[in-house]
Amino acid sequence: MKLFSRITGTGSYLPPRRLSNADLAAELATQGIETSDDWIVERTGIRARHFAAPEVCSSDLGLEAARLALQAAGVQAQEIDLIIVATSTPDMVFPSTACILQDKLGANGCPAFDVQAVCSGFIYALSIADAMIKTGAASKALVIGAEVFSRILNFKDRTTCVLFGDGAGAVVLEASDTPGILASDLHADGKHVGILCVPGHVSGGNVLGQPLLQMDGQAVFKLAVGVLDAAARATLAKAGKTAADIDWLIPHQANLRIMQSSARKLKLPMDKVIVTVDQHGNTSAASIPLALDAGVRSGKVKPGELLLLEGVGGGFTWGAVLLNL
Ligand code: ACO
Repeated sequence: MKLFSRITGTGSYLPPRRLSNADLAAELATQGIETSDDWIVERTGIRARHFAAPEVCSSDLGLEAARLALQAAGVQAQEIDLIIVATSTPDMVFPSTACILQDKLGANGCPAFDVQAVCSGFIYALSIADAMIKTGAASKALVIGAEVFSRILNFKDRTTCVLFGDGAGAVVLEASDTPGILASDLHADGKHVGILCVPGHVSGGNVLGQPLLQMDGQAVFKLAVGVLDAAARATLAKAGKTAADIDWLIPHQANLRIMQSSARKLKLPMDKVIVTVDQHGNTSAASIPLALDAGVRSGKVKPGELLLLEGVGGGFTWGAVLLNL
């Protein structure tokens, strides 16, 4: 049995409709909501985001990303024996987005399920796939983060609606004789449910409560900075590495200031950090695989390099994965 798991291909997909901050500000102005490119760039680093068309679901975005990851890995859909989709914006209450995507992909038969850990979802999903490969339960996994956060935004709340976008990223994770994923570290603390949530739910055919995203931005900011640093250090320690060994930090793309703070705490220069939040906004579970794929396809991130992926999100959830590409 092969003892390790390794990423052999990456892919990503953004829906074609791109809104710059100015485009979004103009749309919000028609509803009497005031914002500006200057405010959004200064507080978040975000310059643009993509929004999916109304009929497009997370499984559609994830499918495109998955196809590109399979192509990059040289793997056929029918060879896949595990599909995990990280999403907080599933196509349906059930069945899982992973099952819907599996059928669209033509990989029918293998286990397929969703992971719900909001913006940490891809880190959770990658860690689960790694563990399943290491136990022999799977040998070629598709791990996908896919979101249509535009569906759950409150466009009357300027403190949140300017932050998020839609998109998907995917990796093929295969059993390997040589180490790829070196260590991971996952956490959750449910006492923080209220600072970032979509509190509505379906009951008796109706939606009860508020089915739109609400966030205490400053509480999230403070918590995120501390837990990301703890997860990064714990993951490095498990693998016997230090921050100086990292070639690329690929953080969850929520806010440029959170990423700058993470890099500063690890004493990493920003030119070792993959940043896509400026062009994608916060795409929740999709943001890390989108950033990874952007890094790989731009030629910055190369095979053999040491990558630290780190995520944090609603729950509160957080974690990190250290890997050799
Ligand atoms: N445009 C213009 N003005 C705005 C906007 C906007 N879009 N949003 C808020 N403001 C105003 C506020 O009304 C307030 O005005 P006031 O002083 O007259 O009352 C002022 O700007 C400051 O508002 P704050 O909320 O204090 O702004 P802050 O500096 O905290 O920035 C932000 C808000 C960007 C949300 C910040 O708290 C943050 O980055 N938090 C991290 C949260 C995050 O990134 N979440 C992503 C999801 S969580 C995750 O992925 C982990």
